[in-house]
Amino acid sequence: MLNRSSLSRIIYFSRCTLDKESVTRTEQLDRLVRSSRRQNEFALITSILVLDRGWFGHMMEGDRDALNSTFKRISTDSRHKEVRIIEWREIPRRELLPSLELLERNLISQDVLDKFALDEAFSRGTPKPTLVHDCMLALQQNLLAKRGIEALT
Ligand SMILES: Cc1cc2nc3c(=O)[nH]c(=O)nc-3n(C[C@H](O)[C@H](O)[C@H](O)COP(=O)(O)O)c2cc1C
Repeated sequence: MLNRSSLSRIIYFSRCTLDKESVTRTEQLDRLVRSSRRQNEFALITSILVLDRGWFGHMMEGDRDALNSTFKRISTDSRHKEVRIIEWREIPRRELLPSLELLERNLISQDVLDKFALDEAFSRGTPKPTLVHDCMLALQQNLLAKRGIEALT
């Protein structure tokens, strides 16, 4: 019988350590997103990365082994610290579309970020998996609406 690898999801959060100076920071984030997208496309990983008030929150989906090796790299990356896993489980199907979409607080995302208050949950140190998961899906919905794409789910 074929040894099929299963679909999994990882959600983690961490503190961003990137430069405070905005030009440098934008360049650093651009570089991070470009290289992560390339690798995720290759590994068939879909993900949404949020950066709000110094906190990264990242939901990733993909093949168990691909997620495993990607997360190993991510967890030792010096562009963030205090990486903490919120959820790591098998899932029946994917819910995210982009290979990696970085979302920061702006006019489009702020309502959702305020509603879910991820930054407060991260500060307390015990964010609930469902809260972060639902927030990521709401952010994706916003993103799709902004791009004129009807909700798929
Ligand atoms: C917050 C954060 C999120 C990241 N997300 C991804 C990701 O989704 N996929 C990925 O391949 N690398 C991601 N990276 C980058 C990896 O940590 C690593 O630097 C990158 O994969 C290049 O590794 P390599 O040069 O050793 O191949 C992320 C890094 C940070 C700080």
